[in-house]
Amino acid sequence: MYKCPITTKRIASPTTARPKNPRLWFLLLSLICSLLNTHRTAAASEDDGRKEYIVYMGAKPAGDFSASATHTNMLQQVFGSSRASASLVHSYKRSFNGFVAKLTEEEMQQMKGMDGVVSIFPNEKKQLHTSRSWDFVGFPQQVKRTSFESDIIIGMLDTGIWPESDSFRDEGFGPPPRKWKGTCHGFSNFTCNNKIIGAKYYRSDGKFGREDLRSPRDSLGHGTHTASTAAGGLVSMASLMGFGLGTARGGVPSARIAVYKICWSDGCHGADVLAAFDDAIADGVDIISISAGSSTPSNYFEDPIAIGAFHAMKNGILTSTSAGNEGPSFISITNFSPWSLSVAASTIDRKFFTKVKLGDSKVYKGFSINTFELNDMYPLIYGGDAPNTRGGFRGNTSRFCKINSLNPNLVKGKIVFCDGKGSGKAAFLAGATGTLMVDKLPKGFSSSFPLPASRISVGDGRRIAHYINSTSDPTASISKSTEVNDTLAPYVPPFSSRGPNPITHDLLKPDLTSPGVHILAAWSPISPISYVKGDNRVAQYNIVTGTSMACPHATGAAAYIKSFHPTWSPAAIKSALMTTATPMSAKKNPQVEFAYGAGNIDPIKAVHPGLVYDANEIDFVNFLCGQGYGAKALRQVTGDHSVCSKATNGTVWNLNYPSFALSTFNKESIVGTFNRSVTNVGLAVSTYKATIIGAPKGLKIKVKPNILSFTSIGQKQSFVLKVEGRMVEDIVSTSLVWDNGVHQVRSPIVVYGVE
Ligand SMILES: *[C@@H]1O[C@H](CO)[C@@H](O)[C@H](O)[C@H]1NC(C)=O
Ligand SMILES: *[C@@H]1O[C@H](CO)[C@@H](O)[C@H](O)[C@H]1NC(C)=O
Ligand SMILES: *[C@@H]1O[C@H](CO)[C@@H](O)[C@H](O)[C@H]1NC(C)=O
Ligand SMILES: *[C@@H]1O[C@H](CO)[C@@H](O)[C@H](O)[C@H]1NC(C)=O
Ligand SMILES: *[C@@H]1O[C@H](CO)[C@@H](O)[C@H](O)[C@H]1NC(C)=O
Ligand SMILES: *[C@@H]1O[C@H](CO)[C@@H](O)[C@H](O)[C@H]1NC(C)=O
Repeated sequence: MYKCPITTKRIASPTTARPKNPRLWFLLLSLICSLLNTHRTAAASEDDGRKEYIVYMGAKPAGDFSASATHTNMLQQVFGSSRASASLVHSYKRSFNGFVAKLTEEEMQQMKGMDGVVSIFPNEKKQLHTSRSWDFVGFPQQVKRTSFESDIIIGMLDTGIWPESDSFRDEGFGPPPRKWKGTCHGFSNFTCNNKIIGAKYYRSDGKFGREDLRSPRDSLGHGTHTASTAAGGLVSMASLMGFGLGTARGGVPSARIAVYKICWSDGCHGADVLAAFDDAIADGVDIISISAGSSTPSNYFEDPIAIGAFHAMKNGILTSTSAGNEGPSFISITNFSPWSLSVAASTIDRKFFTKVKLGDSKVYKGFSINTFELNDMYPLIYGGDAPNTRGGFRGNTSRFCKINSLNPNLVKGKIVFCDGKGSGKAAFLAGATGTLMVDKLPKGFSSSFPLPASRISVGDGRRIAHYINSTSDPTASISKSTEVNDTLAPYVPPFSSRGPNPITHDLLKPDLTSPGVHILAAWSPISPISYVKGDNRVAQYNIVTGTSMACPHATGAAAYIKSFHPTWSPAAIKSALMTTATPMSAKKNPQVEFAYGAGNIDPIKAVHPGLVYDANEIDFVNFLCGQGYGAKALRQVTGDHSVCSKATNGTVWNLNYPSFALSTFNKESIVGTFNRSVTNVGLAVSTYKATIIGAPKGLKIKVKPNILSFTSIGQKQSFVLKVEGRMVEDIVSTSLVWDNGVHQVRSPIVVYGVE
């Protein structure tokens, strides 16, 4: 139905992209993803040959409309009355139209052609992808705040929340804002307060895992962490067993939280993601935050997050999403719709190292967050010398310390040395005292392990192996970690997913970065800090890493802007965040804008951007018309019959986006013309001059007119940016700055070759 190919194009080998191994990245850094991955293969839930499909039908029809009757009726047309209601799993009806049904492939094909159906796609699993971080982006505790902040409601679509955490106390809060239409009742042992004003959970297939709590309560920690990062209150002396000690706080401590639990121990399902959007929009949230995404990119109207975010935008709600943890390859970004904010991760000035001492007195510096103290020396054994032969394992597997491959009798009470990095789980389960792992990738971040552990470099690994081989009773000890200043920060760590946009090449993604490495925030005290079952360390606050942690920083910043400008559109808020972002270093980030977008968030500056690139539903729909999305489908999506006439057929270059991207097959001759308009939100009388920053090698960039004069607030002025020339590098990036002496409104410009 749509003409939106998922590209197989690659950028012509610009910089040394490291080998992609998303699965490993997930396992290593990213928290919940390690849990999720174990179940990743079971895609959609199946029932006697029937799979759950999401049937998306666009906007909610005007007037009286009985969703379940309409949906049952459609199903009856496919397979008679008897099975129709049994096959209907869920109806979306509060904010948009659609349903979830159990269908065979054939039935699905039949439905595809029915009137009103925009798209049908399987109910697939998504992956889930902290207070020094706010200070690091220049957003101190004492910033100016408005009283409106306590009227802001943030919808968190995540693993639920731990409501008793100190971060969610409601002293000083009044009753929920009047606009709030959500609920919080019917749960055992879970109550809301005036901070957490609503909570619900979603699991349409009813297949709860053994450890899943049928309640909005968070048994995993992830949702508690993200919610407290976006909107947690101030909690002094918070730390993970002394690490990261400081005041934990969210971006908008006075804002309210509405919890939509969509992710469980086995992942998050598209049908539940959409059900949560359907409710959150109708409940009256102001900003939606979702730190999850699918691992394969799909068409905008076959991706539940893009669909949900579209209807959120239609209702004036910005959706903030995580870019994904599948970097550092190009085109690894998983949330990239133009109407949502796509957030990559950046580092903060905090890192951890963990010293390893050997029997020969040599000391090596590895990376991990190790809260354990090992005071004595312990025997050191090579994993390859301790195979679990009874379990059918040989040294060639146990050297990597794979699950079950280690012989408990040989490793008990010892430190196991492993080739390759891992989660430490195998050594822990086999009863080892500690573990050393070799890490081939750069040490951008450290994570927690269930036992004393340190990740060391390949070179140090070789030296340790040599030591093990050259002595009859090798010994080692692992120190508690030391917290130090990462003076290189901020940069984008390897795991953060990169652009370009897989569907719309000429729309720059990610949009920006926020802190996502070594973030301290609230945690569920029933979730192990290393995520490994059996690790009994309990913590109210945990330090974790991922774009999942970056997203709620941007959410908090967006809510902060909204508290000053309650009427701004989602696009205006996004524009303010992007055009005021702190530029990042191209030297430290060879994939430039495809790693960091417009740069690192600066919430204080974003409140006064001077100018904004605004866009509304019509602009996004015109963009979709130009992308070849059918007029019929778009009328269904918008509920508007006038869309996709010749006059409203927009090219991607003319979508009023706060950044500029141009992909080209022909490197010899490049021409691109971008139409934009900016809205004055600064001083009424003001004159801005356009400047192109940095020499765009081989390219000529002209801005017409290059002076814009405003006489009132809210006034719009248009300009055209023209790029011409030839490519002398694979990626050429520069930026356009509109400057009136007070505000510098900066937009990245990226031109890149594809083959
Ligand atoms: C209720 O939740 C608290 C956490 O605050 C927990 O300690 C307690 O065991 C729970 N009670 C029941 C009956 O689940
Ligand atoms: C380990 O060695 C055995 C025997 O040499 C071989 O059959 C097996 O494939 C090897 N396994 C791996 C993971 O290399
Ligand atoms: C020790 O040396 C042997 C033989 O050279 C080799 O097979 C083994 O892998 C070495 N051990 C370590 C830990 O490198
Ligand atoms: C880390 O070092 C940088 C630059 O040297 C400094 O600006 C920053 O304040 C330091 N951070 C901490 C937490 O000490
Ligand atoms: C809109 O543009 C697309 C692609 O540029 C084209 O295929 C389509 O025919 C145009 N539609 C109208 C109504 O002009
Ligand atoms: C772009 O702007 C120019 C100058 O304002 C205008 O003539 C042109 O029609 C616009 N192009 C499109 C496609 O909107």
